[in-house]
Amino acid sequence: MGPFARDLIQWQEKAMTFSFTPDNLARARAIVAKYPEGRQASAVIPLLDLAQRQHDNWLPVAAMDYVAEFLNMPPIKVYEVAHFYSMFNKKPVGKNFIQVCTTTPCWLRGSDGIKGACKKKLGIEPGQTTPDGQFSMIEVECLGACVNAPMVQINDDYFEDLTPELMEQMIDDLKAGKKPTVGSQQGRKGSKAKVA
Ligand code: FES
Repeated sequence: MGPFARDLIQWQEKAMTFSFTPDNLARARAIVAKYPEGRQASAVIPLLDLAQRQHDNWLPVAAMDYVAEFLNMPPIKVYEVAHFYSMFNKKPVGKNFIQVCTTTPCWLRGSDGIKGACKKKLGIEPGQTTPDGQFSMIEVECLGACVNAPMVQINDDYFEDLTPELMEQMIDDLKAGKKPTVGSQQGRKGSKAKVA
């Protein structure tokens, strides 16, 4: 991305406003009410998550500022939380947000091939979004499903026991508007050992 495009995105982001929808406002109030008096700032993570879900899976500064005001927190503290946790996106992402785990167990089981399948099918590198806004791909650290490595997370779901061919098929299915089966792609139940 060139400096002009980056400036344009920053300018557009500054011009954005954000507020919870009536439903999310009720959800936010219910979340905050779970915390003891004086500890409302503890709700910052679930409220950022709620804001991100409302805003196409990413958090503009306006959403972080809104959450800060909602919780009576200095905005910088909310920015710190949002930037510390990798599950918060600070720039727009595609409708299908693919997170490829490349930590050691997944790497040993072939995550390079999974990343390669994404690059081949989507024509993007990690950290990029397809021009039609349908897919983003990033590399992430262990997602806690090493037993069924290699795996990816797409939006809220895990897809495990992958091969490059299965990953390509999943992308084709998503492009065709079909949702792939969540979990093991090789019929494994939970994390049970495969029967030879
Ligand atoms: S190393 Fe990939 S899920 Fe743990």
